Amino acid sequence: MKQAQQHRRSVMRAVVGLAMGALIPMGAAQAADKVKVGLMLPATGTYAALGSAITNGFKLYVEEQGGKLAGAEIEYAAVDDESDPSKATENANRLVVRDRVDALVGTVHSGVALAMARVAKSRDTLFIVPNAGADDLTGSLCSPNLFRTSFTNWQPAYAMGKAAIERGHKTAVTLTWNYAAGQEAVKGFNQAFTEGGGKVLKDLALPFPNVEFQSYLTEIAALKPDAVYVFFAGGGAAKFVRDYAGAGLKASVPLYSSGFLTDGTLEAMGGAGEGLITALHYADGLEVPRDKTFRTAYAAKFGTQPDVYAVQGYDAAQLLHAGLKAVGGDVKKKAEMRKAMREASIDSPRGAFTLSAAHNPVQDIYLRKAEGKVNKVTGIAAKALADPATGCKM
Ligand code: BEZ
Repeated sequence: MKQAQQHRRSVMRAVVGLAMGALIPMGAAQAADKVKVGLMLPATGTYAALGSAITNGFKLYVEEQGGKLAGAEIEYAAVDDESDPSKATENANRLVVRDRVDALVGTVHSGVALAMARVAKSRDTLFIVPNAGADDLTGSLCSPNLFRTSFTNWQPAYAMGKAAIERGHKTAVTLTWNYAAGQEAVKGFNQAFTEGGGKVLKDLALPFPNVEFQSYLTEIAALKPDAVYVFFAGGGAAKFVRDYAGAGLKASVPLYSSGFLTDGTLEAMGGAGEGLITALHYADGLEVPRDKTFRTAYAAKFGTQPDVYAVQGYDAAQLLHAGLKAVGGDVKKKAEMRKAMREASIDSPRGAFTLSAAHNPVQDIYLRKAEGKVNKVTGIAAKALADPATGCKM
């Protein structure tokens, strides 16, 4: 009863807030020397640590510039999206309509980001994606207002499939959470693996964010593949790797993944992740000068080493800065700002990258090996890999 009352009250508050927002002309309320950034990220649930790393990275870059980008003071509004697609439209509207942010930044979960893209497009609000890999964001839903500083789900998965073939594997089984990110990652892995002459014996999936892996591990053991490819991230990834080792599979069937499996999760795996090979656009031990300064600054401020999510957040702020520089901090000059963002070269800790015509990073995908607490770079799985951007008409 009490919960129902609270829910009614919060719905009323959101409705009143949205209605008030609708009465104020778009873009009218922010002073020209201020830019309001709406951070829509998970603060709870299996992706909570990822959301916090993105926030840290974004704010670190802004602080390094003295809290201003191109003379404009950066203000924040934040929403915990809970990685819940069913709440995504309402949460995005809170930031875009009620808070009238100049730039929407988020999120981790592909399903949530797809809903955010629709809200941002309907209001022509700048939308920067610092993680979610949904292929469609820079594919069929690509848009002049939408930019991504992370990856498509296809990119690291395709590179991992190629590397699995090069490592001599002929058969594979895949396992993932059953939503856009996992489905697209499996599709990318399977594409490269079958193009290279491999055979996928079975694709297995469980609902997000379930972590009851036992029956799937039993099935994998019965199928006896040469290799297993999975997409998991955050808290669920750590549990999966512990269970995979606990089931005795780690010693007999090599496990591969897009690097989200082991980024920011190795400590929680308690040694079960040791030696895992993954593919990702970031790694530990890169010979990139910008990475060294970034890591030193991040560790000094947050007392921990950054992961790929922190890098993507940092680069989202860099991309916003590139746009604001071109317009002297005047965020209302949308066309000029977006042109500069499209043409920017981002001096990223991962290595410098540019954006494709669909606004997605063209980037190297590294091969990494888990050693202790780090994912050590061992080579490049795919050089300057651009997503095919299927269906993008800009
Ligand atoms: C996604 O939903 O796109 C995603 C989530 C966590 C890590 C990587 C991708």
